[in-house]
Amino acid sequence: MPNASASGANPQWGGRFSAAPDRVMAAINASIGFDRQLWRQDIAGSRAHAAMLAHCGIIAREDEQAIAGGLDAIAAEIADGRFVFDPALEDIHMNIEARLAERVGEAGKRLHTARSRNDQVATDFRLWVRDAIDGLDAQARELMAALADRAAEHAADPMPGLTHLQPAQPVTLGHHLLAYVEMIARDRGRLADCRRRLNECPLGAAALAGTSFPIDRAMTARALGFDRPAANSLDAVSDRDFALEFLAALALLASHLSRFAEEIVLWTSPAFGFLRLSDAFTTGSSIMPQKRNPDAAELVRAKSGRITGALVALLTVMKALPLAYGKDMQEDKEPVFDAAAAAALALAAMAGMARDLRPDRARMAAMAGAGYATATDLADWLVRVLGLPFRSAHHVTGRIVAAAEARGCDLAALPLAAMQEVEPQITAAVFEVLSVAASLASRRSEGGTAPALVAARAAIWRERLAGEGGR
Ligand code: ARG
Repeated sequence: MPNASASGANPQWGGRFSAAPDRVMAAINASIGFDRQLWRQDIAGSRAHAAMLAHCGIIAREDEQAIAGGLDAIAAEIADGRFVFDPALEDIHMNIEARLAERVGEAGKRLHTARSRNDQVATDFRLWVRDAIDGLDAQARELMAALADRAAEHAADPMPGLTHLQPAQPVTLGHHLLAYVEMIARDRGRLADCRRRLNECPLGAAALAGTSFPIDRAMTARALGFDRPAANSLDAVSDRDFALEFLAALALLASHLSRFAEEIVLWTSPAFGFLRLSDAFTTGSSIMPQKRNPDAAELVRAKSGRITGALVALLTVMKALPLAYGKDMQEDKEPVFDAAAAAALALAAMAGMARDLRPDRARMAAMAGAGYATATDLADWLVRVLGLPFRSAHHVTGRIVAAAEARGCDLAALPLAAMQEVEPQITAAVFEVLSVAASLASRRSEGGTAPALVAARAAIWRERLAGEGGR
């Protein structure tokens, strides 16, 4: 055990300790099992800190060079899987710092000047969340692009529009898919807001009160791509709003994906029969040979549970923590890592399914008119052509629907005479508005489902998304 001191106490802080921690103490205290994920950010933060210390004359240039070289070598060790993580050194910060001292001696021991693990971990974690946001944003963009492509392809294909899961009015499949494009665009907006607010650098807040060394916080902030140093040292080390905002944005994103996943589950069920997923996105049953299960969609639906759970977990950890740092805050990372990984997988699965799904156009078109879905079109006609007040038109239409139901036919097949029994002024012209195609084409109000509008909106999205493709 190269890192252990003679007493068994932690060599990074064991000066006033004469014995090793209890086994349980060590077990509950160690975070290296998960915070090793921060290694890239930790090394970047240390390099920036060392460069600033040298620039400000706080450590010698040669020491900074030794530190930078040592950190590069450690990065290579970790990347190659050669680094030995020692749980006795608690976390990623002390594992790297101890290894640095092993590699470059005295110089390595100067790295922690004017710094604390409190500002270090806050900085590393912000950098990690920032990277995660960038990765998830690119994935969300991919999903939007897939949906916009499919929406363009199906801009005019009718499907039942439902409310209460009951036939309401016909819509197009393209319109339905674009509804998710709008949602995911808002999710990306929330992630971008979170990124903007998190981009302040805690480094230099030290343990909680700042430092007596003449550091240059603007320099480290700049080097790490932050917009500015965080203004208050207590806030800098105790704030985890960025992690909570990130989780809140992911929880909402996940709930959107879950709604879409649920629709895929329903639509691929033979009872609906709207869609088919290929072998690539379905699984079979070990007992029922006929089965084709939408497992990926079901798992996306379930991911929203664990992502929302992560948000609630961290809110609960943070809610009554006195300033400044408390070790409770070490529990911030696992929910965030887990939620980010779950969101990445869910986005990838949804993009895959969006490209894979094969709509049964004939079945969807047949169902689009079922359940008297053009009844509103009839009522609107009574208002527009006969001048009835809408409330009266609604009543007349209800009676005509009841007449059709009694005969077991749909509205378009109901004889004119039967309609005139309810409202004598109705003419044969009414049949022009009762088809699904006419209903769809008439929904021309801004944001409506008319195929021309859907095609135009899909084109706008495809152009926008292609424009940011190289970002
Ligand atoms: N592993 C710790 C965490 O994740 C690092 C900060 C520890 N700071 C301290 N004063 N013990 O929060």
